[in-house]
Amino acid sequence: MFSKFELKLAYGLAIWLLLVGVICYAAFPPETPDQPIRLLYTPAAGKVLFDHQTHQSPTGYGISCGDCHHTLAEDEYDQAQSCVECHDPNEGDEEVPKRGDAFHKQCAGCHEAFGAGPVEKDCSACHVM
Ligand code: HEC
Ligand code: HEC
Ligand code: HEC
Ligand code: HEC
Repeated sequence: MFSKFELKLAYGLAIWLLLVGVICYAAFPPETPDQPIRLLYTPAAGKVLFDHQTHQSPTGYGISCGDCHHTLAEDEYDQAQSCVECHDPNEGDEEVPKRGDAFHKQCAGCHEAFGAGPVEKDCSACHVM
């Protein structure tokens, strides 16, 4: 049998641990937003594998969300959308390019600027298979 004191101690400890748990959960919320790891596109020109995680991760290329999700302010990164929400697959103009052109411009444009990664003329470096 447990003594009254032991029971009190056990309850006290249980409540204390529960509190610690709640406080820790509130202070360190689990890493949201779920972002894609890798994205596969299958245009007729050949499949493109985009390594989202490596591009964005601080241990990868460390590029800021807003450099690609270019309409978002820093406190809006968790609202990142697909480009097609604004870049129509079939229609575009100089200012708001259509989806395919938007990809080419952003992907290859940044590689050009960085002096790293496939540039526009390196079709087969992105379009493998
Ligand atoms: C190098 C460019 C780049 C960087 C950096 C980047 N993303 Fe993305 N992200 C993309 C592209 C491209 C897509 C796919 C868009 C499409 O297919 O229309 C995407 C898709 C997403 C999606 C899925 C959207 C949907 O509804 O389909 C989320 C969520 C997302 N990114 C969040 C983030 C967050 C958060 C960060 C920063 C931690 C980030 N991204 C950094 C380029 C990038
Ligand atoms: C919420 C709407 C929206 C989303 C989502 C969006 N764009 Fe745009 N994009 C625009 C608008 C509006 C413009 C024209 C004005 C400007 O440059 O900001 C534009 C312009 C561009 C341009 C031309 C800019 C230049 O310098 O010539 C590129 C390239 C581009 N977007 C790529 C992308 C890519 C890639 C994605 C997805 C990762 C994306 N956009 C997501 C609205 C959007
Ligand atoms: C804002 C800058 C930026 C944008 C936008 C960007 N990249 Fe990159 N990308 C890089 C950098 C930096 C590297 C690293 C090159 C190195 O270190 O060798 C890279 C490397 C790559 C590589 C070669 C290594 C690998 O990961 O396989 C591919 C392929 C690539 N990017 C595809 C894409 C595609 C597809 C898109 C558009 C959906 C894109 N990138 C958009 C900056 C960017
Ligand atoms: C930096 C990577 C990259 C390079 C380099 C690249 N592409 Fe692409 N390409 C893409 C991505 C990403 C898409 C979007 C795929 C999708 O929307 O399904 C795409 C889409 C396309 C499409 C479909 C366009 C549309 O409007 O739907 C064609 C055609 C194409 N590329 C041809 C080429 C040719 C030709 C070259 C060389 C001159 C080239 N690409 C170089 C990444 C690249």
